[in-house]
Amino acid sequence: MIELATRVTKVTPSITLAITAKAKEMRKEGIDVCNFSSGEPDFDTPEHIKDAAAKALADGKTKYGAVAGEAALKKGIAKKLKNDNRLDYTTDNIIVTNGGKHSLFNLMLALIQPGDEVIIPAPYWLSYPEMVNLAQGTPVIVDTTAETDYKITPEKLTQAITSNSKLLVLNSPSNPTGTVYNKEELEALAEVIVEHNLWVVSDEIYEKILYDGAQHISIGSLGEEIFKRTIISNGFAKSYSMTGWRIGYLAGPEKLIKAASTIQSHSTSNVCTFAQYGAVAALEQKESLQCVQKMVQAFTKRRQVILERITAIPKLSCPTPMGAFYVFMDVSQTGMKSLEFCDTLLKKQQVAAIPGKAFGADNCIRLSYATDLESIEKGMDRIEKFILEG
Ligand SMILES: Cc1ncc(COP(=O)(O)O)c(C=O)c1O
Repeated sequence: MIELATRVTKVTPSITLAITAKAKEMRKEGIDVCNFSSGEPDFDTPEHIKDAAAKALADGKTKYGAVAGEAALKKGIAKKLKNDNRLDYTTDNIIVTNGGKHSLFNLMLALIQPGDEVIIPAPYWLSYPEMVNLAQGTPVIVDTTAETDYKITPEKLTQAITSNSKLLVLNSPSNPTGTVYNKEELEALAEVIVEHNLWVVSDEIYEKILYDGAQHISIGSLGEEIFKRTIISNGFAKSYSMTGWRIGYLAGPEKLIKAASTIQSHSTSNVCTFAQYGAVAALEQKESLQCVQKMVQAFTKRRQVILERITAIPKLSCPTPMGAFYVFMDVSQTGMKSLEFCDTLLKKQQVAAIPGKAFGADNCIRLSYATDLESIEKGMDRIEKFILEG
């Protein structure tokens, strides 16, 4: 019998992957599954980004590179953080990683010790608590409700703080709820963070996918003191439809970034060298702006359709998401918890969705609208049938 390390026995396998695998299997058997489970834009990466990577490949950018990233990309990221987010970083404050997930993982390993508590507002992106577990820290989950748009309040944050608290995880726009914190809300949280000498990691991976005039504000831009205690995690996956490229980054105090670099130097080393030049093009070429706008326009229409459909179905409700490409729908009035709801929905109506239990909210399910309008309409027809006919 193999005896696994205790660190891994504490980690829960991904519910998301289990549902997605089941849906894929059904598809292979020829069953017409409507898929609302996807966590990635359904668009291809824009051509100019692919061209830049192809050129880098043809030019021989095929060797080991600097662990923390190509100089050109780090420069581009520093410029982007200044222009888009009002954050003053030099290239020494930045490490390029194998995706946003890897940024956060590096951060947890560099910052969190056994006994350290990491405050995570629920609903949360499902990897946060598991990363904390893997770093042998303690995730402290703070429930939020639809009434506060699934946002943690300064009062709730204060209540959760103990002498072991080290880090708060913020994710705006949020996966799974689509909630977006405004300036006043972030200022109020920043005050508590500074007062209690906490760190905050701001996961900004959905920053470009916003609706109805919502604005993305980086908490680190709200003053010198909070800037000193902020770490930014971001990546190219969602904004530029580059999920498979695996390029993300972490920005923060130099000492921390150096530590993350040391960890990365003994694990993955540099991100695929020529792929990084695609990311440079994503940041620097003006076509990117148009591509992002086009994608957000498509998401806006889909969001409108899915919200209208949900509103018309009894027993279902959700707050209006202001960012990302998910709706987080309350199904508690059906009498089912999220796993049962999603399992039965997949079996009876062949619709794949992610149970809220995976995100720490068992009354809800997550529907992704990163899929075409026709599939959204068809899937919602089936959900309606499921609710009306059982
Ligand atoms: C909130 C959030 N953060 C980070 C990530 C990681 O993105 P990636 O590793 O693909 O860059 C995801 C991906 O789904 C996410 O939803």
